[in-house]
Amino acid sequence: MSSLRGRDVLSAFDFDREDLFRLFELAERLRGEISGRRVLDYARGKVMITAFFEPSTRTKISFQFAMTRLGGEVVDFIEEVSSIRKGETEEDTMKILDGYDPDVIVVRHSKPFFPHSVKDVVRAPIISGGDGTNEHPTQALLDVYTIWRELGRVDGIVIGILGDLKYGRTPPSLSYILTRFNDVTIYYIAPKQLQIRDEVLRKIEGRVRYHLVGSVEEVIEKLDVLYVTRIQKERFEDPREYERLKGSYIITRSMLEKYRKIPVIMHPLPRVDEIATDVDTLPQAKYFEQARNGVFIRAALLKEVLGV
Ligand code: NCD
Repeated sequence: MSSLRGRDVLSAFDFDREDLFRLFELAERLRGEISGRRVLDYARGKVMITAFFEPSTRTKISFQFAMTRLGGEVVDFIEEVSSIRKGETEEDTMKILDGYDPDVIVVRHSKPFFPHSVKDVVRAPIISGGDGTNEHPTQALLDVYTIWRELGRVDGIVIGILGDLKYGRTPPSLSYILTRFNDVTIYYIAPKQLQIRDEVLRKIEGRVRYHLVGSVEEVIEKLDVLYVTRIQKERFEDPREYERLKGSYIITRSMLEKYRKIPVIMHPLPRVDEIATDVDTLPQAKYFEQARNGVFIRAALLKEVLGV
């Protein structure tokens, strides 16, 4: 029985522990059924709209692939050529899209809480594909799915989350989803100016152990997972601040080789320069696999939300 049927997915907190394990198993099953580039029948006759008001590569395409593999239809709303250019509000756009009776809408927006602000005027279930600096719940879903596949567990892990923890939305969602597991330790690794926001720490207080540190070297020997993120250039108010911080943390192969091997290295992508390309061929570099996992876990999520 699916408990996510018809539900909005706006936060990583919308998944409880049971949902997560059920989705992991379902994603594994769908991976098998889809293998060999098959298109399945589950979502036949269902329509998903992707409404991305902010640039995206992986998230949009992997949702579209997931729906296509499930046998459903995809309609893509493209802002650049829409009436928004004529002055239509984005709330109105969402109402119009919803009026065509889609079965689910995946929405991304640069404004934090945009999906929350329209959920009551939209009848279709809404899945957030990222809202500003707030959250990216389905990225967190594919992140923990990847950890579970690679390590066989998420309980008890020690994870370092490195990079722009202030403006990034993947670190908050990943932190929230990790509260669903037992005995997790998070090291937030960032220059002071980019450390994790207090509002995020307040939400995980007492549910995971966490420590704030300034460099990877301080904790590298303890990590099961290193999760690297890029500096969110587009979210800096002062471009000089970006110039000062860019390149302030870079993971290279020679640096990694000096220490005990970190079992899993991840990145939500896009990468700019924070992981040198010579790391890509190390067996523990899992970021491309992680991106690929997005299709299977999003297919599992869509299957449940659609109730098919
Ligand atoms: C992330 C995002 O959009 O927040 N990208 C993604 O969906 N994989 C990370 C980023 O943009 O840095």
